Amino acid sequence: KAQINLSRFSEREINFVNQDAAELNLEEKFDAGFICWVLEHVEDPKKVLRSVYEHLHPEGIIYLTEVFNSSFYFLPKLPGLERYYNAYNAHQIQSGGDPDIGVKLGNLLHEVGFEEIELQRGGFHLDQSRPEELKRMTAYWKELMKSAAKPMLDTDLIKEKDIREMESDLEAIAKASNSVFFYQFVQAKAKRKA
Ligand SMILES: C[S@@+](CC[C@H](N)C(=O)[O-])C[C@H]1O[C@@H](n2cnc3c(N)ncnc32)[C@H](O)[C@@H]1O
Repeated sequence: KAQINLSRFSEREINFVNQDAAELNLEEKFDAGFICWVLEHVEDPKKVLRSVYEHLHPEGIIYLTEVFNSSFYFLPKLPGLERYYNAYNAHQIQSGGDPDIGVKLGNLLHEVGFEEIELQRGGFHLDQSRPEELKRMTAYWKELMKSAAKPMLDTDLIKEKDIREMESDLEAIAKASNSVFFYQFVQAKAKRKA
């Protein structure tokens, strides 16, 4: 899938290698590494960062984008979405991941030995001053929440009716006059030692 997607943007020949990011074993060293929405799923994020560190040239750069799910805030405070979101994060923790890994990136990079660590936040802060964007983001959020529904049902974290309530709460938020929909993720850039 990555091969198909990338061929739409670049004519350069790109090699794809499928390895555990925590135990990379590549002959080459690289100028840069890029990790997006992956550390949130791994049991030992420092192991992944160390593994990337070892595969960078001196002064090579790592770029990261990761979730900070505790930053999610919404009004009106509808209980169906609240309940589903809590279960969604509990599922990620049960699976060995960390839904708040983004906010920890600076410390993790520092502990692994990266230097010149830069952190920035991205995300959205939507309300009825931008109703179309609010509608688009709540619709996207519904799909994101549903992407984990199957394993959450299988592990009894949710019931079918919780999915419907989460969906109708998101639809209500898109319409409510006092709606607020807020979320921040974290991006980091850092350098391997010279
Ligand atoms: C939420 S997806 C993100 C995919 C893509 N980076 C993006 O931004 O759309 C999480 C990805 O992390 C990958 N992943 C999880 N643990 C991994 C590991 N130990 N080594 C390599 N990839 C891993 C999964 O295969 C999955 O493709």
